[in-house]
Amino acid sequence: MDVLEAIKTRRSSRSFAERGGLPIEVVDSIEQSILHSPSGSNAQESHFLIVQNKEQIKRIKRFSPGLSGDPAAVIVLCSNPAEALHKGGKDSEEVLRFVNLGIVAAYILLSTHSLGIGNCPVRSFHKKAIKELLALPHEMEPELLISLGYSKESPRKKKNRAKEEVISFDRYGNIQK
Ligand SMILES: Cc1cc2nc3c(=O)[nH]c(=O)nc-3n(C[C@H](O)[C@H](O)[C@H](O)COP(=O)(O)O)c2cc1C
Repeated sequence: MDVLEAIKTRRSSRSFAERGGLPIEVVDSIEQSILHSPSGSNAQESHFLIVQNKEQIKRIKRFSPGLSGDPAAVIVLCSNPAEALHKGGKDSEEVLRFVNLGIVAAYILLSTHSLGIGNCPVRSFHKKAIKELLALPHEMEPELLISLGYSKESPRKKKNRAKEEVISFDRYGNIQK
């Protein structure tokens, strides 16, 4: 599947079939997505946990009301404000560390989707509990989860805003290409 096809066909999955763990090529694709992602000032301050242990996933679910279904894996995307400040300055600490994580998240969503794996970004979780559960160092903050597995559902119908409302050319409001 090429990148544009992956972008156009990806949808969030919230229920997963029980088919064992993720194939190794999927785990490899997650690693590659992380390692090849850009970051502001090339600070690379983020950290990522790939959780595949069933008991650990169960515990994460207990503290994550936004995480639906029984995923085969959960990725925890963490930022490190102090390292972002040190390597990239104030803008990295305040804003770019989140932008950086967003880009990695998109890479992971698209690469795993292209390999037939359903996924969903999840922000609704208890940060403090997840931090403790995963033994994250004090300076590291869990910001986003991504659940992954074999999707059991066909995607819900999605309302998209009109193209003209969200895209302009050359100056705001001009809709001519
Ligand atoms: C930053 C972010 C946080 C999200 N958090 C949750 C969440 O906690 N629970 C959930 O079920 N979906 C969550 N979603 C998924 C969105 O609801 C979903 O992307 C949106 O409805 C569009 O649907 P689509 O992903 O199928 O295109 C999140 C998405 C993003 C980008």
